[in-house]
Amino acid sequence: MAGRIPQHFIDELLNRVDIVEVIEARVPLKKAGREFQACCPFHNEKTPSFTVSPGKQFYHCFGCGAHGSAVGFLMEYENLDFPEAIEELARAIGLEVPREAGGAGGEDSRRLDHYGLLEKVERYFRQQLRHHRQAERAVDYLKARGLSGEIAQTFGLGYAPPGWDNLLRQLTAQADRELACELGLLVKKDDGSLYDRFRDRIMFPIRDRRGRCIGFGGRVLGDESPKYMNSPESPVFHKGQELYGLFEARKAGQKLERLLVVEGYMDVVALAQFGLTEAVATLGTATTQEHLERLYRTVDEVVFCFDGDAAGRRAAWRALENALPAMRDGREARFLFLPEGEDPDSLVRRLGAQAFRQKTVESVPLSQFLFESLSKQVDTASVDGRARLVELARPLLARLPDSVFRDLMLERLAQLSGLNSAQLRARIEGRPAAPTPAPPAPRRASERSPVRTAIRLLLEQPALGATLATPCGLEDLELPGVSLLLELLELTRRHPHMTTGGILEHWRGRTEEPHLARLAATPVAIGHDGFEPEFQGAVQRLIEQRNSRKVEYLLQKERRSGLTAAEKDELRQLVAGTRPTSGQGA
Ligand code: UTP
Ligand code: MN
Repeated sequence: MAGRIPQHFIDELLNRVDIVEVIEARVPLKKAGREFQACCPFHNEKTPSFTVSPGKQFYHCFGCGAHGSAVGFLMEYENLDFPEAIEELARAIGLEVPREAGGAGGEDSRRLDHYGLLEKVERYFRQQLRHHRQAERAVDYLKARGLSGEIAQTFGLGYAPPGWDNLLRQLTAQADRELACELGLLVKKDDGSLYDRFRDRIMFPIRDRRGRCIGFGGRVLGDESPKYMNSPESPVFHKGQELYGLFEARKAGQKLERLLVVEGYMDVVALAQFGLTEAVATLGTATTQEHLERLYRTVDEVVFCFDGDAAGRRAAWRALENALPAMRDGREARFLFLPEGEDPDSLVRRLGAQAFRQKTVESVPLSQFLFESLSKQVDTASVDGRARLVELARPLLARLPDSVFRDLMLERLAQLSGLNSAQLRARIEGRPAAPTPAPPAPRRASERSPVRTAIRLLLEQPALGATLATPCGLEDLELPGVSLLLELLELTRRHPHMTTGGILEHWRGRTEEPHLARLAATPVAIGHDGFEPEFQGAVQRLIEQRNSRKVEYLLQKERRSGLTAAEKDELRQLVAGTRPTSGQGA
């Protein structure tokens, strides 16, 4: 089993590959000054806001916030795991990826084993739909539901035969059985014996964006309960993120303009059979923010289909709440409420594709759904009611990113409540709104806090780290961001030639990463003498801050309990200004 990829190899690899080449091979780039631009491959846009910086070896989209190094780009664009992206980059420049001994990274290769097993099982279920002696029942069921053989094939539908050990007997190797248990395909009883989870069910393989099978949904042929059974969460299957049918929708050919979110597997398959290939379904869960992010990475317009009943409206409201933070300009969300007792499957069969499509076009925009739902809860004829309306809308509108759309929503609330929009804005913006991508206009870094400035300049020009003394005198300064700055300093001193993209790889998976990436993407205006004077200035201001705090502390301590000789000495130097840093002097 393969071990971890050593960090020094990742550093070296990122030093040797050129992100511009890596991206250019997949997305045509245009030169724009020192950088390259393109329409963002991760969301739909007409004017390019996707920027690649050869200097920083880093890409960033000002529209959707996507960002990263060459590794990050490959992971996102090709849907690769981290080790796979590293392998791919290494292959391109003819390097062999070394692995650390001990197999500490066995988890990654174990995941590959999971995918391999799922593929095998998927193939087995498909074969059973053709060849098992009871397959006719399954095929008849699918026919009775109006599914064509062709669509069954497109979605890879299969059949898990009746019986407790069909799959079990297929998996003779102990390692395969263990994998199948981790994936929930086999279930272990208390006595240690195993049995098949899916029995006598139509099997819907669930795929990730790359088309790899990551789990299954299984439907009974009759009215037994539970109607559907799904693979449990596993190392490769996360229900809150995956969307059934997304791979098939992207594969269907034409450029995707929008996605239709429905509730059931059958709905996705039936709609596709009728030519509405843009439908996806959540996996028996509510629509999460992760789902929303994934949807809007793919398209700008999402139409949610829900039952028209009370439960459907509640589910739609949850989807709306989760959609709000994703509603950047250019994105659209609409809601289609289905007639009582219908689902997309039954409706498209009754009305036909054309009429169904028309219904999606006429669906309710998010703004209308939001204000109509809230207005129903209050009496807008009374002053109290209108005040209540503002209270209800406030937390919702505060979740919207800063955008023209948000302005329009505020306007609408102003109309409905009778408050003027300036007052409303003040009320709503009283609490911090969702973070928005940094504006692309260059600003002098010194307008910001010195910690932020120093971090930003180090990301711009990592070699600056080596211009400071060691220790730099900030080691005991307690301010937000200082520990991050120190860590960054330590890294850039060891590797003065590391690029921004390479640096960010050291923060992969850590909570500070998005913050660092945002800073890295914000352009900094360059002064006459380069970045160094400004960098030194920021560090100097921090040192002064540290020193005056120290003076404060020592004076207090002197009054309270007296100072040691060393402390007295330090205080004298600090007050005289002859001790610029704690690392020097004493
Ligand atoms: P529905 O009951 O609306 O399913 O559940 P459907 O797709 O219309 O099914 P048919 O038409 O009767 O075959 C919607 C979704 O909820 C999840 C499944 O993901 C299903 O597709 N579900 C439903 C379960 O996970 N378990 C269940 O028992 C029922
Ligand atoms: Mn149905």
